[in-house]
Amino acid sequence: MRIDVVTIFPDYLAALDLSLVGKARRAGLLDLRVHDLRDWTTDRHRTVDDTPFGGGAGMVMRPDVWGRALDDLLPEPAADTGAGTGGAHVVVPTPSGDVFTQRHAEELATEDQLVVACGRYEGIDARVAEHYRAAGHRVSELSIGDYVLNGGEVAAMVMVEAVGRLLPGVVGNPHSLVEESHGAAGLLEYPVYTKPPAWDGREVPEVLLSGHHARIDRWRRDRALERTAARRPDMVAALDPDVLDAHDREV
Ligand code: ADE
Repeated sequence: MRIDVVTIFPDYLAALDLSLVGKARRAGLLDLRVHDLRDWTTDRHRTVDDTPFGGGAGMVMRPDVWGRALDDLLPEPAADTGAGTGGAHVVVPTPSGDVFTQRHAEELATEDQLVVACGRYEGIDARVAEHYRAAGHRVSELSIGDYVLNGGEVAAMVMVEAVGRLLPGVVGNPHSLVEESHGAAGLLEYPVYTKPPAWDGREVPEVLLSGHHARIDRWRRDRALERTAARRPDMVAALDPDVLDAHDREV
């Protein structure tokens, strides 16, 4: 997959050279390119923003600068504009977007190319998203949560990491993708333990040392259900009742 991130702070994205995403880049599994939006300005001051029409605080990013950048980075739109079907997808991190979830990460991981447009100040002129949607591109305005950051860069890193680890070959053991929180089971992950078996007077739950795989699976599912009910009742309410067995219902 190719991911282009456009920002006025390319250095912010340096952390994407590290860890799993960095390794995926070096292995050729992820072609990640970070661009400076100011490279598409045409004036001496390399201006990317201006005052908002209608008044109000702050500055808004200019559509002409973004238009030149996106025109350069996007291929011709594909005829089929269904979600997650390969092709290019424009992602705009913004606190006013849909809330980004594991489902978005899964869908974005099926694309050939993502172009992530990081806004700053009060955001990007609204005509930019409209224009690229009208031209037949998939455009997703996504928020990483109900709080306001200074710009889209940190949100872009969150999304690149969440998508990058789903690409084939990036996570060494694909099994780790199956059991984790927000995975297929629709539950938060159960608590995990490692050596030593006793630490600070606290023992690892005995069942995990028993070697009895069926009992371990049952214990883990019970703890996942308890934890999800306590921390995320919204996720329990969204569970398909058909996936719950009689024991689950008692937990
Ligand atoms: N830009 C500023 N705040 C943001 C948020 N919560 N999510 C995505 N992009 C943002």
